[in-house]
Amino acid sequence: MPLLGVNIDHVATVRQARGTDEPDPVWAAAEAELGGADGITFHLREDRRHIQDRDARLLRDTVGVKLNMEMAVAEEIVELAIQLKPDQCSLVPEKREELTTEGGLDVVKNQSRISSVVHRLREVGTTLNAFIEPIPDQLKASSDAGFHAVELWTGGYAHARNPEERDAALDDLRRAIVVGHELGLAVHGGHGLTYRNIAPVAAIAGFSEFNIGHSIVARSIFSGMREAVAEMKRLLDKYAPRNPR
Ligand code: PXP
Repeated sequence: MPLLGVNIDHVATVRQARGTDEPDPVWAAAEAELGGADGITFHLREDRRHIQDRDARLLRDTVGVKLNMEMAVAEEIVELAIQLKPDQCSLVPEKREELTTEGGLDVVKNQSRISSVVHRLREVGTTLNAFIEPIPDQLKASSDAGFHAVELWTGGYAHARNPEERDAALDDLRRAIVVGHELGLAVHGGHGLTYRNIAPVAAIAGFSEFNIGHSIVARSIFSGMREAVAEMKRLLDKYAPRNPR
């Protein structure tokens, strides 16, 4: 069964809405672990709109499962990542005006800048994950740049407007997984996945990890983080292919 990384950024979003000290994303991470999370994901954005440096440090000290830091290819953030040494660094595009990460990193276009960052981060022993769209050229460029893994942007599927778009997006994901495995990359998935739409994606063989944030944090308001994570784990288990590759 693929691993579940729980993105706790939006717990910090609620805290930042009041500029106070609650709810604490570090507590959320502990609760997510108790609910069965295989990993904790956070995005330290350049504008610090949700996760703060203090959160990143405390998460590094307290998280007992895989710690995945999403980050832009920005010098200040790269230096913080080198100090923090998370288990995995996920390079993502970042625009100030966006509500959340929109689309994938363009590794083809920015290959030399990205590969120099990848090589610096590889030296601290972290796994490097590229958040990209399910496009073969982006997978090839990610492999050439030195990434160990790619996280396929599942937004094309999640935001599909009709069944044809949805099926085409699922086909793109399936094809990209094949290409990724041929290149020796681990293949993850994330963005826009919810309790309602996870089934067809969870049923695709070959994903080794999903990173899910907004939907789990939203559910946790009603059921608590532990139960929200446990429920997503149950769905992954229920729909995961029984005989993956
Ligand atoms: N994976 C990556 C790389 C992301 O940037 C995000 C959004 O922060 C997610 C997964 C989680 O997306 P969502 O909050 O839509 O579940």
